Amino acid sequence: MLMDILEIVMAILRAVWLMVPMLIPNSAAVLFGGGTPVDFGKTMKNGTRILGDGKTWNGLIGGTLSGVILGVIQIIIMGFLNQPNWTINPCITCALPILFLLAFGSMFGDMLGSFIKRRIGKKRGAKFPIMDQYDFFIGAMILIVPLQWTWFYDNFIDGVYLAGFIGLIILIPVMHRVVNIIGFKMGKKDVPW
Ligand code: CTP
Ligand code: MG
Repeated sequence: MLMDILEIVMAILRAVWLMVPMLIPNSAAVLFGGGTPVDFGKTMKNGTRILGDGKTWNGLIGGTLSGVILGVIQIIIMGFLNQPNWTINPCITCALPILFLLAFGSMFGDMLGSFIKRRIGKKRGAKFPIMDQYDFFIGAMILIVPLQWTWFYDNFIDGVYLAGFIGLIILIPVMHRVVNIIGFKMGKKDVPW
């Protein structure tokens, strides 16, 4: 019983650790963001912005690169600790496509969220429950699940790893809340969500 719980806790920690390249980009985008918007200020036929001023090229590129670079550092750390099982892939070049899909997918989901927000008439920064917390996760999954199915299955569906994945899904809103409150206190975010 105790062993089972320990195994599940470890699976959750492992899931969070492996998904750091997906979890970091949105926060990094807040730090790097500003400048030219991704939609170049363009609007739809009804006059609403395609994405809005909250989605910038600096944020998109800075966020994606942060996720990939952090992911590489994580693999190096686990290499030193001799824990290949706690890496996306112990071989860095083999891990790169997955790192990119996780980090870029995260930013892609964030943009998808803004696209939907603008279509339903929500202004930049307006609250959008569930989407605000999960858009980056949905974006990363849209890319990872079909394009890296074997890797995803082996690491997040197979055996106790599924419990880790479910734990990660439950923890996402909690982590999101904590990070946004920190960002707000640092003066990096206008609103604490
Ligand atoms: N940001 C950015 N580029 C991105 C994503 C985020 O520059 N691709 C920066 C922006 O300064 C943005 C801040 O990070 O205001 C917070 O991100 P987010 O909460 O996703 O954007 P919102 O301003 O809330 O805009 P939206 O309503 O479109 O989600
Ligand atoms: Mg927001």
